[in-house]
Amino acid sequence: MKSCTRANSISENLSVWNQEHAWLEHGDEWKGQADFCGVPYDEWKASVIERLITPYARSGSTILELAPGHGRWTEALASLAGRLILVDLSPACIEECQRRFNGRKRLETFVNDGKSLPPGLDCQVDLVWSFDSLVHVAPGEIQSYLHEIHRVLRPGGFAVIHHANRRHWTLPLAPIRSLGPSWAFLYRYLSIGFEESADGWRSAVSVKLFRTMAHRAGLSVMEHLSRWGNNGRYGVPRHNDRVTILVKARDDRAVSQDPPKEQRLPTSEADVPTSSQMSYGGQDKEVLG
Ligand SMILES: C[S@@+](CC[C@H](N)C(=O)[O-])C[C@H]1O[C@@H](n2cnc3c(N)ncnc32)[C@H](O)[C@@H]1O
Repeated sequence: MKSCTRANSISENLSVWNQEHAWLEHGDEWKGQADFCGVPYDEWKASVIERLITPYARSGSTILELAPGHGRWTEALASLAGRLILVDLSPACIEECQRRFNGRKRLETFVNDGKSLPPGLDCQVDLVWSFDSLVHVAPGEIQSYLHEIHRVLRPGGFAVIHHANRRHWTLPLAPIRSLGPSWAFLYRYLSIGFEESADGWRSAVSVKLFRTMAHRAGLSVMEHLSRWGNNGRYGVPRHNDRVTILVKARDDRAVSQDPPKEQRLPTSEADVPTSSQMSYGGQDKEVLG
């Protein structure tokens, strides 16, 4: 996905993933993070499963995958889950998952509206997993999903979410992308840096904004990961991405006992969550796993 002049709206995501993208390797065509780390793709993929899925997915548990595409990670989730729930904006992606995982017991699939999770799941899910998908989704929809994740997670449940991480101060400048390629280039340079040859259609989200939105939804941030493995051999360093691990407190008072500091966000682009008064949860904790 080279274009970076398009907004990260629900309709653009639907068009890109439901119609335009060819899905030549059913998601395994996205080898960029492995290349950036300088490791073979299969090794990198195994590290994602080992570091980001296995520790949070008890055998037989209920797992919800948000935006599975053609099921690149679903294979691993399916081997661990008792009940597996797949939710995607794209009808074509859900059809492909139904075909690929046909016959699997306790599989539920949903085409959604791009911002909410199915009703009737309150406090039933042990793990919400989303990788390489919300990186393209606007902050307003991410805020909505974080509230929904809080609703469906059982107390003590986890969410492992891969998201964009542009420089925080540049977020309000995101609309300049739509003015044309030179403006999109400038925005990439300011928000991600020159070391990147493309901006990967990342949305206007920083780790700080993600943390703020998670707190607003009542979720606690356990860690933000950029790299993991020996000497940070693996990770999601391309486009400066992060994977954030969230937990729904067993006792919701545990979250409110540690109130995030109130700060004012810079004037925001239209799709940044509505309130101008937002809270940040202290320093970003960067972790080498
Ligand atoms: C780049 S693909 C990644 C698919 C898969 N997670 C993987 O890693 O191979 C992005 C996926 O996110 C889905 N998606 C995009 N925006 C969405 C939204 N707002 N809500 C739900 N799914 C969305 C797309 O339909 C597509 O399946």
